[in-house]
Amino acid sequence: MGTFLITGATSGIGRAVALQLTENGHHVIGIGRDESRGASLETESNGRATFIQCDLESADEIDHLFAHMKEQGVKLNGLFNNAATFGRPGTPERLTSDAYTEVFDVNLHALNTVTQRAIPFFKKGASVVNNAAIVGHVKFPPMLAHYAASKAAVVALTKTFAHRMKGKVRFNAVCFGPVDTPLSHKLYGGETKFKEAMTHHFRGHAALPEEVAPTVEFLLTDASSYINGQAITVDGGYTLS
Ligand SMILES: NC(=O)c1ccc[n+]([C@@H]2O[C@H](COP(=O)([O-])OP(=O)(O)OC[C@H]3O[C@@H](n4cnc5c(N)ncnc54)[C@H](OP(=O)(O)O)[C@@H]3O)[C@@H](O)[C@H]2O)c1
Repeated sequence: MGTFLITGATSGIGRAVALQLTENGHHVIGIGRDESRGASLETESNGRATFIQCDLESADEIDHLFAHMKEQGVKLNGLFNNAATFGRPGTPERLTSDAYTEVFDVNLHALNTVTQRAIPFFKKGASVVNNAAIVGHVKFPPMLAHYAASKAAVVALTKTFAHRMKGKVRFNAVCFGPVDTPLSHKLYGGETKFKEAMTHHFRGHAALPEEVAPTVEFLLTDASSYINGQAITVDGGYTLS
């Protein structure tokens, strides 16, 4: 059984992936800022997930995270770079460089730093999955240019790392369509408005986090050993229309 590092494991997709991995006997190190949700992850996983509080906007906290993992002798079978923010939505003509910085700091720079820092911890055949999105890949909502650009950059970074590592560590990106999580609720102004908007999805609703988690587990484990450098869309057919 493996050990997997997951950023943003306290909520939504990251939490669902953490619980799926732990149900299947793996150990998860789950990163987030919210201590109480971190404690609930530990409880719900019957202790197979260990929460470490870390704000990915802080280089010092990322340093402490990896120093702690080194002290504990952690070796990783995989990394799910999942934490991200929408930042403050705005039209592309008006988005400020501060708004770009806020989004890129978490979605790209922290993802890159965590990946670089994780490399010495990887066991042979380790796998990295980066959470991109259909936004920035095949959909470009007008109010989310900074988020879309950061996610397009995540796909480019994923493929570049994959090329560089020559399969010693695999790198793939997942590009999900709408998923029913607190992040989506916030974007649409609340859960009710999100669910109402999703009735226009031809399935009539967004994915549940538990519906997309198996793809991440597949890509993190040896079952996908020949898949490398890909950006895989998982959207229930959302981008067909
Ligand atoms: N929901 C969708 O429709 C959708 C679609 C495509 C792609 N995605 C991608 O899926 C990923 C997860 O999104 P989600 O929908 O599951 O959102 P979510 O439920 O809001 O979860 C976001 C997670 O990221 C963590 N996080 C955010 N900023 C952080 C920071 N500075 N430091 C540490 N942790 C931080 C949060 O932890 P704390 O609150 O504990 O800090 C939380 O665990 C994101 O990359 C998102 O872009 C989502």
